[in-house]
Amino acid sequence: MSDSLLVKSLFRNYQVNFIGDFSQQLKLLVEQKSFFIIDAAIWELYKEKLKDIVPEKFRLIIEAGENNKSLDKCREIIEILVARKVRRNEKLVAIGGGVIQDITAFSASIIYRGIEWVFFPTTLLAQADSCIGSKTSINLGDKKNLVGNFYPPSAVFIDLYFLGSLSTEDIKSGLGEIMHYYIYAASPLFAELIRDYAMIIKNRKMLEKHIRESLQIKKSVIENDEFDRGERNKFNYGHTFGHALESVTDYAIKHGQAVTIGMDMANFVSLKTGFMCPEIFRDLHIKLSMNFPEFDWNKIDFDRYFSLLAKDKKNVGNNVGCILAREPGILIKHQLPLDNQFKEMIHAYFSGEL
Ligand SMILES: NC(=O)c1ccc[n+]([C@@H]2O[C@H](COP(=O)([O-])OP(=O)(O)OC[C@H]3O[C@@H](n4cnc5c(N)ncnc54)[C@H](O)[C@@H]3O)[C@@H](O)[C@H]2O)c1
Repeated sequence: MSDSLLVKSLFRNYQVNFIGDFSQQLKLLVEQKSFFIIDAAIWELYKEKLKDIVPEKFRLIIEAGENNKSLDKCREIIEILVARKVRRNEKLVAIGGGVIQDITAFSASIIYRGIEWVFFPTTLLAQADSCIGSKTSINLGDKKNLVGNFYPPSAVFIDLYFLGSLSTEDIKSGLGEIMHYYIYAASPLFAELIRDYAMIIKNRKMLEKHIRESLQIKKSVIENDEFDRGERNKFNYGHTFGHALESVTDYAIKHGQAVTIGMDMANFVSLKTGFMCPEIFRDLHIKLSMNFPEFDWNKIDFDRYFSLLAKDKKNVGNNVGCILAREPGILIKHQLPLDNQFKEMIHAYFSGEL
């Protein structure tokens, strides 16, 4: 049995299909002469199934490292696609998490001025969040997601079976993004997620309702603000602080877990600037902390962290653009001057003065 969610886009509407067996859908795409870009970890884990379906000359296996989200890698891919005579009317098919998605979508958007791409998200983060929304982002040196555009897939196929082989850290990373949507929307499922947190990590079937709810929340906003000019900005909650944390740790912290800490930091700044009351801060801090990584804060080079924050692409002039919170359901866009007061606030957070 399969069912689907329609996402409206200014480029083309597309369906997110919940499917029971990815191999059937892959066979159809092979018949349509598609070219497959597959995460190396997925290839290793599911090779027995995949190698019989996807012919060698129509596949490219790529390591899902942040270092591969680069202009050099996309250029290399495009050269391979051209050499293998991929045509404008053929599709690229990404099988992997957010990294493979970003590399494939960006390459698809520029080769021959754009060809269609289809996505089989295999991580929780990609299934519950990144598979919709049209954004493609690649890194420029240590500057995360600095280059990109908007280019939605023509279809998404979610098979929950992939989640079975995902590491606990990657499940927690996906849960971080789900929590961020739940706080944005004040979703009643947030309390349920926290209550069931330990069970969910072990029993991945329990994730299905959270994937659906997370996509519903995201869909309701991106359909009205696909290009991130208004309300969608609020989804940046936790991301400004999180991105700098990923960069300063050389991506030792997973994206969604960095976002979890980033939300706690945004809440701390909200508390210190009088937006959030201490009771709400404390309540959210306890909930978010469940999803923090095992992490040695002493390893962080604070000055480098602060300079990365100062370079965030959403900054305006000498202000850091961030999303603060009053409570779940009430987020506020705010520009904070990059001054000593702000620096001391961030330092206080890192020193554990909560
Ligand atoms: N374009 C967007 O809208 C968007 C949104 C959010 C995040 N992102 C980007 O997504 C990236 C993070 O994506 P991610 O969290 O999916 O991580 P990822 O793609 O880096 O995958 C995480 C790890 O899991 C492995 N993996 C993937 N699927 C697996 C499976 N089913 N079983 C076992 N291992 C598996 C990968 O090889 C990798 O080692 C970041 O680069 C982030 O910037 C993009």
